Parts: sequence; structure tokens; C-alpha cells
Amino acid sequence: MLKRTHNCGELTKQNEGQEVILSGWVNSYRDHGGLVFIDLRDRAGLTQLVFNPESHPQAHEVARSLRDEWVIAAKGAVRQRGEGLTNPKLATGEIEVDIVELEILNKALTPPFEVTSSNQVNEELRLRYRYIDLRREEMQKIFKVRNQVTNIVRSYHQENGFMEVETPMLAKSTPEGARDFLVPSRLTAGAFYALPQSPQLFKQILMISGFDRYLQVVKCFRDEDPRADRQVEFTQVDLEMSFVDMDDVIGITEGCFAKVWKEILDIDLELPLPRMSYKQAMDDYGVDRPDIRFEMLLKDITDIGAASEFKVFNSVAKGGGIIKGLCAPGAATFSRSDIEKGLTDFVADYGAKGLAWFKVTDEGGKPELTSNIAKFFTDEQRQEMISRFGANIGDLVLMVASDEGTVNKSLGALRCKLGEDLGLCKEGDYKFVWVVDFPLMEYNPDEKRWDSLHHPFTAPVPEDLDKLDDNPEGILSQAYDIVLNGNEVAGGSIRIHQPDVQAKVFSLLGISDEMAEERFGFFLKALEYGTPPHGGIAWGLDRLTMILTGTDNIRDVIAFPKTQKGQCLMTDAPSGVDPAQLDELSIAIKAAKPKP
Ligand code: AMO
Repeated sequence: MLKRTHNCGELTKQNEGQEVILSGWVNSYRDHGGLVFIDLRDRAGLTQLVFNPESHPQAHEVARSLRDEWVIAAKGAVRQRGEGLTNPKLATGEIEVDIVELEILNKALTPPFEVTSSNQVNEELRLRYRYIDLRREEMQKIFKVRNQVTNIVRSYHQENGFMEVETPMLAKSTPEGARDFLVPSRLTAGAFYALPQSPQLFKQILMISGFDRYLQVVKCFRDEDPRADRQVEFTQVDLEMSFVDMDDVIGITEGCFAKVWKEILDIDLELPLPRMSYKQAMDDYGVDRPDIRFEMLLKDITDIGAASEFKVFNSVAKGGGIIKGLCAPGAATFSRSDIEKGLTDFVADYGAKGLAWFKVTDEGGKPELTSNIAKFFTDEQRQEMISRFGANIGDLVLMVASDEGTVNKSLGALRCKLGEDLGLCKEGDYKFVWVVDFPLMEYNPDEKRWDSLHHPFTAPVPEDLDKLDDNPEGILSQAYDIVLNGNEVAGGSIRIHQPDVQAKVFSLLGISDEMAEERFGFFLKALEYGTPPHGGIAWGLDRLTMILTGTDNIRDVIAFPKTQKGQCLMTDAPSGVDPAQLDELSIAIKAAKPKP
């Protein structure tokens, strides 16, 4: 077999005259009246091979039988391309290789789509033939970036004293709030492992074991419905540190983000990154992951609505709800149907029963609010709204009246949609913000109990510790999320390291002593054997890679992803199993028939 001497991306004019052997896949084939040109592809790039019927008839003859995606090796001499024939888009565009010997290493079936085609190919087909999809240049670029990120992450953390430790995949349930994937145990019939939703408790235990600084690039499993930015199986950059406060974890993390941004995008992030309280995020952006690339902040006009003659606003304000709105710059050009179909229907999906609006028109050079509901507001009320929204002529003011949750959810989503629609999110603009000062818990009226905003191991701020006994509502936590262009890319917290505080938090969360013992007994016991104060964070590596590579589909950054239904189309997992395997596990399938 011809053994390669170079890859397909490295030959330049400097190699002129050299005899080389290249191997790879036939990317394209052109027969130019005698001469055959092949673009040969490997991971490093493309190189043009030339087959001349006169000088090397045998190689030329074989070349004529080649088809796309066949695997070949070819030997020849590097020569400069003729005048006007260079290809400046290609690293090897100044040269070609004049082939003297060709070996077919393997034929290939005709691929179901062209490797050279863009992302327009049907995604189901791409996932079914993932090995071909992954050959495409766009995909190879993404995985190079992903690999670069993990390399930077590892070396940065090593330099900062972190140690990589692996934690089990067959574990006990961890409370990250999603459903567990269960794995039946053969040796203990009727018992199950849970695949980790995150290594949360193991990394805390590693701190108790004195590992001081832990890092792991680790798979996590959550049995929830996949979304554009969510997979059932995803990767975290997971870390934990001892004897630290929030600023230490934030400092280490943003230092690493800065390194990634510099090395991959050549962008200098200005550190420290800005911080925003949870309250401000909810008030101004309606979400806890604010996209700060553009303004269009939400403004509360409950007082004006309550005092107006507009019945919808009056009744919501009287009933304890709120009225908020936003001012979309330049959007007064939207037609009534744009607003009523496009936007009102959009907020309805988030539970808003309606969307009130004003166009900001020009009244003798001054802004005025115009719409079918303008008459219900006095001149002063309209002017007050104009000033509160900072509205200018040509803008569109949109308002929702409802309970606080619905108002924030619907307007928060509408703000992001309008940011995109109005072109306010510029490509190449990366705006990070740390969201801090989260409440420790929120009340869940359906279940009549408190729920953690992060997870139950998150520490309250020390000043609020005494409120744990009687007033959980106002307690702030030492949790922090880092948000990038409206995406939560990492989240973590300082942990509870005192067993009595942990026990109190469990009881507020409605976790009884017995349940705590049953689910986390091993951890509570470990906490009593000398636990250092500690904290950590986990990044969503897939989400971060999505942003770095500019894709909005999480499946593009995972080599072998799952569909919306949690299926791997290439391997056809999940699939039924042999009844004998079920027998061994003492499992009987009740209702649904397993797939054959
Ligand atoms: P959390 O649950 O916030 O924290 O997860 C950390 C980060 O992981 C990413 N992420 C996901 N990415 C893709 N698909 C999913 N289904 C998915 N779920 C989460 C997000 C998120 O910010 N143990 C804690 C961390 C800690 O406290 O140290 C944890 O797992 O980008």
C-alpha cells in the first residue's frame, strides 16, 4: 500500500519538485478533455491531483474509474499550477500533484447526499448517515473548535492547580431537577443505577476528600424533552474548588472564557465581566438569562394602567397583576396584522391573553401614542408612558397585563424575538453577563412547598442564614449563572458545607428526614467528616460550542446526537432487547411493546 507522506492541506510552492504520497477521499472529479483532475480530501484540506494520459497512461486509466468518496492513495510530484489556474481560497491552491501511481484503497457506495453540499440537506438523512455528514467541511470545522475548547479548558485548569478526576456513570440519582435515566442492575435484581444528571455530589465529596481543585469534562444525562439547545446526553466542563468564595469561582471561570475567546476568535474579553442581579434581570429583561446585546428593556406601567380608563389594565392592576411593556425601535411600520397575527399570537403561546399596542406618531414634531386604545389614557398618562419607555417617533410600544410570571415570560420572549427580527443581534457580538443574587428558593403553589432555584446544595448568603427558620422567601443564594447572548452557558454556586444548614434546607424543600437519608444519606454522612467551604460551576460545553461556531442547533456540535424524540437515527437506539436479557435483569415489560 502507498503510505502517505503528507496530508491534503499542507503542500505549498515550497514543496515544488518533491515526490509525495497523499491519501484520502475523492472530493470531486473533472475530466478536461484528456487530463483528469481529482480534488483529494482528508481532515486537513483538499489537494488537486492531475492525471495525464500521455505521461502516465496507467494511472490515468484507473483515475477515470474513480467516483466520489472512493478512498485512494496517489504518488506524484508537486508542481506549481499554471498562470491563472491558482485557487486563492485553498491553502494548497498554488500547487497540484502530477500523479504517477494511483491505488484504490476502497470503493464507496454513492452517498445519499453530497459531502460538498451545505447544511440544506434534510437533517434526518444527515443523522442517519452521520459518518458522511461528519465529513462535510462545516462539521469538521465545528469539531475542530470543540476540540480546541476542551484543550484550552484542560490546560488552563491544570495551570491553575485543578486535577482531572473521573466520577461514576453508574450512580445514584442526583437532584438536578430532571428525570433520571435508569440502568437495571443484574447483580441486585430489582435495583437500579441512575445515570448522573451531573457529578454534583461526587465533586463535593472530592472536596471533602481534600482534592482541593477538581475538573472533569463529563457526560451528563437528563431524561427531558430535547430542544434546540438541550440534549438528553450532553457534556459539562465541571469544576469544584475548596476554601473559595463566589469571586474566586467567577474569576477562574471568566479567565478561562477570556482564553477561549482569545485563542479561538481572537477577541479580547474585557474582564471582569459585568454582573447583574436576578431581580434586575427579571425586571428589565423578563428572564433570568438576559440578552444584553440590545436595550429594549421592559418597563412597568402598572400605576398608569391602574389610573387609566382602559378596563383590561384596570382589572389586572386591581387583581394584583402587573402591566409591563417594551418599546420596539422603528417598529411603527408594522401593520395591524403584523402585530395582531405575528406578535399577539406569539405572546399567546406564553400565556398572555392579549397584547396592547401604541404606535409612536409625529404630532407636530412631538411623539404621540396612537392606537385604538389611546382614548382611554389622558394626555399626561400618554406623555408619562412616552417618557418611561424613552419612546421616539416611529417606535412601537407593546404591553402585556397579567400575573407577574406571565408578563415576564411573554414579554421576555417577545423582546428576544424582536431583537432578532429588527436586526439588533449582530453576528460576532458576544455579550456576557453574570447573573447573581438569586433567591435561594421559590414557592411552588401547586405542590405547596418551596423549590430550589438551583439545587438543594446551594448555600444561602451568610447574612440570610437566620432567615432559614422562618422566612425563606427573602433569602438570597450564593449562586451564579453566566449568560452569553441570552443563553445560560454555565451555572454554579457556593455550597452548603454545614450539616445542620443542609438539613434545614432539605426540610424547607419538603424533603423529609427519611427521604433525605434514603436519597442523600451517604452525602450527609460525608458532610460530617470535615468538609471545607467549597463551591464550583459547570459549563454547558455543547451550548458554548454552538455560540462559538454560530449554529443554533445543538445537534450540530455533538458527533452522534439524539433527535427530538431522543433517538439515535444512525444506530437506531433506543431499541428492544432480547427477552433473555430482560430475564437476567428480572424485568418484565408491561405495556409498550419493545421495538423489534
Ligand atoms: P446546571 O443544571 O445549570 O448545573 O447545568 C450546567 C450547564 O449545563 C448546560 N446544560 C445543558 N446543555 C445541554 N443540554 C441539556 N439538557 C443541559 N442541561 C444543562 C447549561 C447549564 O448552564 N451541578 C450543577 C453545576 C454546579 O452547581 O456546579 C449543574 O449541573 O449550559
